[in-house]
Amino acid sequence: MKYSIKDINLAKKGITKIEWARKDMPVLSGIAEDFKKTKPFKNMTIGVCLHVTAETANLMIALQEAGAKVVLCASNPLSTQDEVAAALVQNFNIPVFAKKGESKNEYFEHLNNVLDMKPDITMDDGADLVGELHSARPSQAKKILGGTEETTTGVSRLKSMANEGTLLFPVIAVNESMTKHFFDNRYGTGQSTLDGIIRATNKLIAGSVFVVAGYGWCGKGLAMRARGMGANVIVTEIDAVKAIEALMDGFRVMPMTQAAKEADFICTVTGNTDIVGSKTFKIIKDGCIISNSGHFDVEIDLVALKKVTKTRKVLRDFVESYKLKNGKTVFVLAGGRLVNLGSAEGHPASVMDMSFANQMLAVKFLVKNAGKLNNSVHVLPEALDRKIATLKLKSLGAQIDVLSKKQKEYMTGWRDGTK
Ligand code: NAD
Ligand code: ADE
Repeated sequence: MKYSIKDINLAKKGITKIEWARKDMPVLSGIAEDFKKTKPFKNMTIGVCLHVTAETANLMIALQEAGAKVVLCASNPLSTQDEVAAALVQNFNIPVFAKKGESKNEYFEHLNNVLDMKPDITMDDGADLVGELHSARPSQAKKILGGTEETTTGVSRLKSMANEGTLLFPVIAVNESMTKHFFDNRYGTGQSTLDGIIRATNKLIAGSVFVVAGYGWCGKGLAMRARGMGANVIVTEIDAVKAIEALMDGFRVMPMTQAAKEADFICTVTGNTDIVGSKTFKIIKDGCIISNSGHFDVEIDLVALKKVTKTRKVLRDFVESYKLKNGKTVFVLAGGRLVNLGSAEGHPASVMDMSFANQMLAVKFLVKNAGKLNNSVHVLPEALDRKIATLKLKSLGAQIDVLSKKQKEYMTGWRDGTK
């Protein structure tokens, strides 16, 4: 079997980690148990491009047990857990092409290693696998039933392709399920981003000024958790509605060029480019720690930063100091790549449980509807999303009320008004 990983001898550590994560993934495990019996993915090759973590490993194992041939590469050069990659190869015979810290060339080589296996279904996080297929090997699209996409930035790229008329197969936007973005993007990114910043720096958050760029799903989670740790949080936005939301949630709101003057921490989660750029570097507070948890490493303009920098130095793992020509020093974490997966382990398994339950049901939906979906971006039916919510709630030991017949009739009628 062909594979490309850092060190196969790390497998023992990886397997322990995978089992630890599985304990918090009851919804995925339940679906996996069902699919193990019925083998809905028999004769399918699934090409997967996700962050290579213990949680992803559990998804890969579940897909394989459901009858699929699976192959995995990383969706970010810095997010691979090398011990997990080793365990997937050694213990499960799953070809993995991923190394933490791989170069850009290796990253694209690994995407192509996955495409070489001629997948029937693609599973992406950020749309690089689908992007590479469309730009370098479009003829392969004929064989593909469809794809799934995990994250906001990937969905946005795929919608652009669909709008242009260039998307060659249907894709299910897993991110759009309520049981994905309400929880993964908000509570997952909220916690794991702070985890990444703290593991890299061991700095105190309490009493600091913490700037969150972007008040979408991820930004809301991050701002909420930073405040919970005692930070004075400032939000920057370009959307007036989101900005009002941040204000009414009790945060200060201002432009980045103002916020950066007092920031001890800046963390970007916009999915947009050039959020911290040359204008910001002119006024940024001495000692500011800059990080990003958005999908791509374009939110901090490192080219502009290097232009105003006299000397650079790696101080600790994932911490680089930039001594600026104006005498100030700033610190960039994880090279501007997503800090929660670069210097920590990504979202906890309990939240990935729902995201990856969506992935399993999305693949089944593609198989069931093969040839019936048009080449655009689709959302999983709400009934499946709600099924995942019900299973998760049950696993958390919580119960809810059930609508009575009278309540159902009242909520769907119009005759009952003022009495
Ligand atoms: P979202 O669309 O809900 O929120 C993004 C917000 O950023 C929006 O409110 C938008 O108005 C704002 N924004 C855009 N340009 C801006 C600018 N110039 N300045 C300030 N704000 C700006 O998206 P989301 O679901 O919160 O995802 C954000 C990013 O995080 C995406 O790239 C997504 O793929 C990624 N993501 C990362 C992780 C992770 O594990 N690190 C997890 C989920 C999503
Ligand atoms: N994205 C964010 N956290 C993740 C995790 N733990 N595994 C896979 N993808 C992720």
